[in-house]
Amino acid sequence: MTDGADRGQWGSRLGFLLAAAGSAIGLGNIWRFTYIMGENGGAAFILVYVACIILIGVPVFLAELVIGRHTQLNAVGAFEAIKPRSWWKWVGAMGVLAGALLLSFYSVVAGWVMAYALRSPLGTISGLASPEESGAYFEQLSTSPTQSLLFHAAFMILTMVIVARGVRGGIEKASKIMMPILFGLLALLVVRGLLLPGAGAGIEFMLRPDFSALNPTVVLTAMGHAFFTLSVGMGAMITYGSYLSSENNLPMASLQVAFMDTLIAIAAGFAIFPALFAFGMEPSEGAGLVFVTLPVVFHQMTGGALFATMFFALFLMAALTSSISLLEVVAAYFIDERGWSRGRSVWIVGGAIFVMGIPAALAAGPWASWSVAGMLGATEGQGALGSVHIFQLNWFDLISHIVSDYMLPIGGFFVCLLVGWFWDRAAVETEVRIGAPAFKAMNLWVNLLRWVGPLVIGQVLALGILAEFPAQYFPRLAGAVDTLHTWFIGLDILVALAVIVVSLFTGTDRPDQQPA
Ligand code: PHE
Repeated sequence: MTDGADRGQWGSRLGFLLAAAGSAIGLGNIWRFTYIMGENGGAAFILVYVACIILIGVPVFLAELVIGRHTQLNAVGAFEAIKPRSWWKWVGAMGVLAGALLLSFYSVVAGWVMAYALRSPLGTISGLASPEESGAYFEQLSTSPTQSLLFHAAFMILTMVIVARGVRGGIEKASKIMMPILFGLLALLVVRGLLLPGAGAGIEFMLRPDFSALNPTVVLTAMGHAFFTLSVGMGAMITYGSYLSSENNLPMASLQVAFMDTLIAIAAGFAIFPALFAFGMEPSEGAGLVFVTLPVVFHQMTGGALFATMFFALFLMAALTSSISLLEVVAAYFIDERGWSRGRSVWIVGGAIFVMGIPAALAAGPWASWSVAGMLGATEGQGALGSVHIFQLNWFDLISHIVSDYMLPIGGFFVCLLVGWFWDRAAVETEVRIGAPAFKAMNLWVNLLRWVGPLVIGQVLALGILAEFPAQYFPRLAGAVDTLHTWFIGLDILVALAVIVVSLFTGTDRPDQQPA
């Protein structure tokens, strides 16, 4: 254990809020959300996703902050403090592992963003005139081992430099500078996109739901993405919460972060899809969407190089304020539990994560044909990025899939169980009311954690596992999954409604009787 000098504290409420929003807002909002939405039918996906955010994401986000502030410890230490000498610490350990794995491929994608951000001012990116040309450019970048590794290394170093400077001097400061710039640049890009002639089709894609596009994988993807985008399920908010002192209103902060995060994702959609449709391109491009399709959009705009520079700079800042939170989760574990100094922890952990990311950096490249599917002789998906079943994934996709579609939801599942069922309810309520004496939705929050979270996460995980078996080989199973899925959705809606109604009418919340 350290004396706490290497732990740190947030300097101000705003600083914490921007750091938490910075963690949430990242590649997930701009790269992942837009391509997943593009592949899964636009507006219908947004609805499922927003429902997952409100009913599960926000409650879990708040639960993690409560765990973190209460224990003032890293993810592993926090579970151990609440449930000493039990298996709960393994939930925290899985989070630390998920953080390391997640950062290892996050940094590879962020490295590509960095390459684009550096090259945009030169006009290179907006000089790509057709999807073929920009596809070849992206492929050349992502398949070149030297370039991929170089930018992966550069991005990791940037992340480590910030985290090494500590919670207040590094993470908080970086977020306070970058987040406002990000908001401003994105607003400009949205206006630019909406004013393009022919933007209407893109707006319609964002707003008119096509429910026939929904299937179990879509729901699994939407929920996995809700966890990913809010940075929950792996202890990031436990860690950030552990640097809080008592004056923060945690329920309010959770709502604010979720609101900003969703707003930014939808704004990114409005910045991208109207332009995409205006220039006659397809939304279902897959993971290459922002890298392949957008350059061509910029090419056709007046001032393309400028807009490209703005876009990729904002994108890079978003990635950086998230990667620092990922590294912090792992670093905090070694600081608190192993007594390492911050510097040592950051450089050793960061270095190890860089090494772990090497296969991911190479997997989009010449080794991409190394995949389980290749070995089984099955058909390759859409190449390096973008297929769904484990059987068809290369290393990069595999890690991304396991972490975001399984590890984060499983982590969230146990956070629901701990705070909803197993942690002393009085302790939980007391902690929440610190800084939020008038919190009125205590019952609703606890009941969402008790019933809706575990139910929905559990069934989505179960369906997700069944959906791993490719339908072409297991047609009957696929049929069963479809039927189950329909029943489950009906059940979820009923349970969610019941929980909301019952919570509101049987409230034991007596904010008036709580100490201020
Ligand atoms: N929320 C980040 C994003 O949307 C990713 C992330 C996940 C960061 C988990 C920290 C923890 O890009």
